[in-house]
Amino acid sequence: MRDFTFFNPTKIIFGKEVQKVVGEETKKHGKKVLLHYGGGHIKTSGLYDEVIDLMRKAGVDTIELGNVVPNPRLTLVREGIKLCRKEGVDFILAVGGGSVIDSAKAIAAGVLYSGDVWDFFTGTAVPDQVLPVGVILTIPAAGSETSPGSVITDWENGNKRDCDMLRPVFAILNPELTFTLPPYQTACGASDIMAHIMERYFTRVSNVDLTDRLCEATLKTVINNVHKVLNDPYDYDARANIMWAGTIAHNDLLSTGRIADWASHMIQHELSAINDVAHGAGLSVIFPAWMKYVLKSDVSRFVQFSVRVWNVEQSFDNPEKTAVEGIERMEAFFRSIGLPTRLGEIDIRESDYERIISNCKRFDGDSVGNYVKLSCGDIRRILELAQ
Ligand code: NZQ
Ligand code: ZN
Repeated sequence: MRDFTFFNPTKIIFGKEVQKVVGEETKKHGKKVLLHYGGGHIKTSGLYDEVIDLMRKAGVDTIELGNVVPNPRLTLVREGIKLCRKEGVDFILAVGGGSVIDSAKAIAAGVLYSGDVWDFFTGTAVPDQVLPVGVILTIPAAGSETSPGSVITDWENGNKRDCDMLRPVFAILNPELTFTLPPYQTACGASDIMAHIMERYFTRVSNVDLTDRLCEATLKTVINNVHKVLNDPYDYDARANIMWAGTIAHNDLLSTGRIADWASHMIQHELSAINDVAHGAGLSVIFPAWMKYVLKSDVSRFVQFSVRVWNVEQSFDNPEKTAVEGIERMEAFFRSIGLPTRLGEIDIRESDYERIISNCKRFDGDSVGNYVKLSCGDIRRILELAQ
């Protein structure tokens, strides 16, 4: 196990009706608040009216900016920065999923910066002063409610990039707010949560028994509960377990003492930059292909994954067979919850490969990933396996 510092100061408020504290929590951090949200599900669910009312009762002056889209856009971030400066906003409340939270983080980092916010995403500047951000989460998926990351798309130039900016000061997690999630969004969220765990699970660092077991338990929790919520969207306990797993998966606890991989995420971001595919749907295509490609570099880790997570019976004579069966079970699981597992299903063509490969390389120097350092040729072969 490697040395580490674990610091995750986000205050988690979890359970039924917990959004009721949003006004009081916000008041501790700001006087003038930007309420940031997406395409309108919070209006149809009634959450928008409830939040506005709670802010008013708490005496918090609130302005708003909606219309964040999945794979959130740089253009809206820039608009949000201008608005916050003009109105003297000192706190941002994100109500929604990873896209809304990431957009809020980018605005929070851009407001106090004299240059263009995209500088943070290209690595030419580092955010040092940021506005505080609070969250009411409505979809367990990205883990942005406690992660420092923000992922923003410059759609005009076909770039999707990430940057570590800030961790929210509080995250309000009420599983009841996820009852309205459509099956596809529920499944995409599950895939992203699983990907966050697997990026950490596949490591070259040895003797990480505790985090191995925590990863396996969190993965099994998601796997065991997804079908329950697809069968009954109002199953509170299943929604609650998935929601908490989504936060645990990406709050960095599971990577303590390890080096995570992230190649599948890097490749996935390039798919979304081409055709706006949902992040979780891109991951259910790329992750199995990545696994098939790197499997031989450490068969024993894949055997452990297959046996402990996918209940594959271990073949001592043929460990590779055990390893492959785990990957096949994972693919079958993704299909069973309505997710794609081939590039053709998400409209990525062979003619897109060069762009995907060159973008991955442009952002990350010589290689992508840590478990296996992927060259351009490796990425091409992974894309071919996902065909
Ligand atoms: O726009 P609204 O109306 O809010 O609808 C959203 C959106 O259409 C809908 N939705 C959310 N909660 C709902 C709901 N619909 C009904 N009922 C509810 N309770 O779901 C759709 C998807 O929302 P989005 O926020 O895009 O989903 P997600 O949380 O998966 O976020 C995806 C984004 O997060 C980034 C991804 O790249 C992608 O851009 N990521 C951010 C990370 C981070 N900051 O740490 C890490 C991740 O790896 C990921 O890259
Ligand atoms: Zn992700």
